[in-house]
Amino acid sequence: MTQPNNPDTRYLADYQPFPFILEETRLDFDLAPDATRVRANLKMRPRDATKDLVLDGGSAVELLSLHIDGKVPDPALVARDDETLTIAAAALPDAPFSLTTEVRIDPSSNTAFEGLYLSGGMFCTQCEAEGFRHITFYPDRPDVMAPFRVTIRSEKPILLSNGNPVSVGDGVAEWHDPWPKPAYLFALVAGDLVAVRDVFTTRSGRRVDLNVWVRPGDQDRAGFAMESLIKSMKWDEDVYGREYDLDVFNIVAVDDFNMGAMENKGLNIFNSKLVLASPETATDADYERIESVIAHEYFHNWTGNRITCRDWFQLCLKEGLTVFRDQQFTSDMRSAPVKRIEDVRALRARQFREDQGPLAHPVRPDNYQEINNFYTATVYEKGAEVIGMLKRLVGDDGYARALDLYFERHDGEAATIEDWLKVFEDATGRDLTQFKRWYTDAGTPHLTMAEDWDEAASGGQLTLTFSQRTPPTPGQDDKPPRVIPVAVGLIGPNGDEVQATRMLEMTEAQQSFSFDGLGARPVVSALRGFSAPVVLDRNIDDATRAFLLAHDTDPFARWEAGRDLAMSALISLSQGQAAGADYIDAIGRLAADDGADPAFRALCLMLPGDEEIATRLAAEGVTPDPDAIHSARDDLARRVADAHADLLSDLYDSMAVSGAYSPDARSAERRSLRIAALGLLNRIDRGDRAEVLFGTAGNMTERMAALICLIRRGRGQAALEALHDQFDDNRLVMDKWFSVQVMAADPAQASGIAQRLAARNDFDWKNPNRFRALLGGLAGNHAGFHAADGSGYDFTADWLMRMDKVNPQIAARMSTAFETWPRYDAERRENARAALQRMAAMDGISRNLREMVSRMIA
Ligand code: ARG
Ligand code: ZN
Repeated sequence: MTQPNNPDTRYLADYQPFPFILEETRLDFDLAPDATRVRANLKMRPRDATKDLVLDGGSAVELLSLHIDGKVPDPALVARDDETLTIAAAALPDAPFSLTTEVRIDPSSNTAFEGLYLSGGMFCTQCEAEGFRHITFYPDRPDVMAPFRVTIRSEKPILLSNGNPVSVGDGVAEWHDPWPKPAYLFALVAGDLVAVRDVFTTRSGRRVDLNVWVRPGDQDRAGFAMESLIKSMKWDEDVYGREYDLDVFNIVAVDDFNMGAMENKGLNIFNSKLVLASPETATDADYERIESVIAHEYFHNWTGNRITCRDWFQLCLKEGLTVFRDQQFTSDMRSAPVKRIEDVRALRARQFREDQGPLAHPVRPDNYQEINNFYTATVYEKGAEVIGMLKRLVGDDGYARALDLYFERHDGEAATIEDWLKVFEDATGRDLTQFKRWYTDAGTPHLTMAEDWDEAASGGQLTLTFSQRTPPTPGQDDKPPRVIPVAVGLIGPNGDEVQATRMLEMTEAQQSFSFDGLGARPVVSALRGFSAPVVLDRNIDDATRAFLLAHDTDPFARWEAGRDLAMSALISLSQGQAAGADYIDAIGRLAADDGADPAFRALCLMLPGDEEIATRLAAEGVTPDPDAIHSARDDLARRVADAHADLLSDLYDSMAVSGAYSPDARSAERRSLRIAALGLLNRIDRGDRAEVLFGTAGNMTERMAALICLIRRGRGQAALEALHDQFDDNRLVMDKWFSVQVMAADPAQASGIAQRLAARNDFDWKNPNRFRALLGGLAGNHAGFHAADGSGYDFTADWLMRMDKVNPQIAARMSTAFETWPRYDAERRENARAALQRMAAMDGISRNLREMVSRMIA
C-alpha cells in the first residue's frame, strides 16, 4: 500500500511530538447557518522555542483576527496556506502565551459533514478524525489534549457541548469539560430537540443525568437506546471496573451522519438509525445493533477518551479494543455462541475480503494519505480479533491484570500499540515480540492441518501437524510466521468428547502436537471458538463434517462443520458437479433437534452468501463465476426445502411468538428460526406464506423477511407499495425500502432497478444513509453488482463521481464495492478496471477517492 512520491502520504515513522503544550482551550460560538463566528483562545507554552507554531485549518476557515497575548503579530511572521496557519517562532514569547483567533465558517454549505454542519436545521459536529480543523485553527492531532470551556450563542432552544453544563440561559449556554481531550472528541449541538431522560448512579455514588435527544415526535422510539445505555454503564463497572466521570451523559440522534456514531466526551452523536427503534419500524437486527453501538460509544469513554491514541496510525488501539469490549457485552446480554458465530460471519464477509485484495493493510497501518479511508474492518474487527487472541494466550486473569495496568498507567495519555503490548508483557511476563506481527503484517494466514494416527504408540497417539502461510499483500511480500492460538478438542467415535478444549500455541512455520492414550482414533474439532482469524485447510470428508455437526461440543466448531458441508456442496454445484446430499441430510437432523437453541439452528440453516462463496473460491485460487454461484445457491436451497418441507413448515408455525412484540434476545431467536424456515419454504411455496406474513405481522422483523421473500419470487410490488404508503414520512424505513429491492432483486435486473430508483424524487442522495441504502444494496447483490456487462460497475462509478464532489468520505467508503475486482474473469476485470480508471481520471477528484482508486488499480 505504500505509494512513494505522493506528497500526501503520511508515515508512522515520521512521528514528532507537538512542540507546544496546550493548557486550556476556550471556544466561543456565534451560530448562524451561513456565517458562524468562532473565537478560540488557546493557552500555550513552548516546549521548544525555536519551533514555529503550525496550526491546522481548512481552506473554508476564514481568519478574521489573530492576537498573541492581546497583540496583533507582525503579518510577515504569519503565513496561511490551504491547510495550515503558521506563526513563526520569532512572533512567539518563550513563555506561556495566549493565542486568540476569530474565524468565520459556513455550516450551511458543509455537505461533507465533517466539522460543523447542518442536519435538518440542527447544528451538529463530527470531528474525528480531522474535522476540527474545519471549525477553527488548532493543533488538530490526538496527542494534543486540553480541558475545554465552550460558550454557544444561538436562537436554538437546546445548546450542548462536552462535559458539564456551567450555565444555560436564553440564547446562550456554557459548558466545561475538565478532562483533557484532543480536538477530535469535541462536539457541539444546537437544535430543536426533546429528551428521553433517566438517571444512573455510579457505584461510587455519582448521580449522572442521562439524556437521549431526538427531534420532537421521535421520543417514543428512543426508549430502547436509553435502556441500552444504562446496561452499558452498569456492565463497564461490573466487568472492567470503569466508572463514568461527568454529571451528564448526552446522546443526540442526527439524520445526516457519515458513520455509525461518535464517542465525543459526554456528548455522543449518533446516526439516527442507531438510536430510533419501534417494533413497527425496526428489525431484531436493528435492535441488537443499537444496543451494541450505544455500548461501543459509551465504552470509548475509557478506551478512547480517558486513554486516547498518540496518532492516527494507532487507531486500532481504541477501536479494536472497544469493538472487543462491545462484543463481550453483547455476549453477556444475549447468546454468547450465537454472537460469536455472527461476528465470525461478519469478519469473513468484510475483513477476509479486504485482506484478500488490493486494499489489504495491517491492523496498524504505517502509512496513509487520508485517514478516513482506514476506518476499516481490518482496524476494527480484526483489531478486536487480535485482542481476543491475546486474551486466549495470557488467560482471563492475565488479561484482567493487563487491563488494570493499562488504565492505571496510561490514564490521561495518548498511547501507542507498543504501550498496549507492554502492559501485557509487564502484567504477565510474556514476550510479545512475535505477537506484534498481528499488528504490523497484513493478510489472512492460511493454516493447514494434517493428522497422523498411530494406534500402536502411547496407547493410541494422534499427531496434528500445522503449517502456516500468509499470502503476500500490497507492499509486504515477506510474511514470517505468527503466533497462532489453535483451540482443539477431540471427539471419540461414539460421539463423546475425549479431549476437552486445549489451546495449542503455534509459533513456527510448521509445528506438531500430540495427544496420547486415546485408544480409538478420534475426530478433531479444530479452531474452536474461531480461536484465531485464519483460514483453516484440512483434509476432511463430508461424513466427518456431518459427524462434527452432530456431536461437537463447541458451538462455533459445530456450526462451522455445517458451514463447511454447505460450502463444499455449493462449490461443487457452482462447478457443475452434483453434490449436497450429505448436507441436506445432516442439516435436517440438526433443524429437528429441539435441544439446540433456535438461533443456533437458524444460523445453521442459513446458506453461505454468494459473496462468501466467492471469497472462499478465490482463497483457493479459483476464479469465481457470480452467476454460477448464485444459481448453485438457489439450487441447494430449493433442494433443502424439498427434502424437509414438513419439518420447516412445523418450525415456521411453532416458532411464531405470540403476544406483543418484544425485542428481547429469546423472542428474537425464535423469530430468527422462523424466518430461516420461511426463506427456505419460500423456494417451494411460490411466496404464499410470505404474502400472508407480510399482511399480518405487527413487527418489522417479520414484515421485512416476508418482503425479501416476495421480491425473490418476483411478486414484491404490492408489498413495496404498501410499505411506501405506510412509511413515506419515515426516513429509516424508506432507507430499507430502497435497499431491499435492489439487494434481493434478480441479479440480471439489479442495476436496472437501482437506476430507476436513483431517478426518484425521494432518492435524497446527499443523505449518507439514503445513498448507502441504494449503492450498498447493489454492492450487496453479488451477481448483480458483478454483472458481466459491467452495468453494475458503471452505475456505481457514475454515482461515486457525483458524490465525490459533495461528500468525499462517503464516495471513498462506498468505492470498496470494487475491492475484489482482481479475482474475477477477464471480461469483468476489464469492465471494473475501466470504471476505476474513469474515476481516477476525474477532474478535481478528492484525496479520499483518489487514494482508494489508486490503491485498487495499482
Ligand atoms: N470513533 C467512531 C466509532 O468508532 C467512528 C468515527 C469515524 N469517523 C470518521 N469520520 N472516520 O464509533
Ligand atoms: Zn469506535
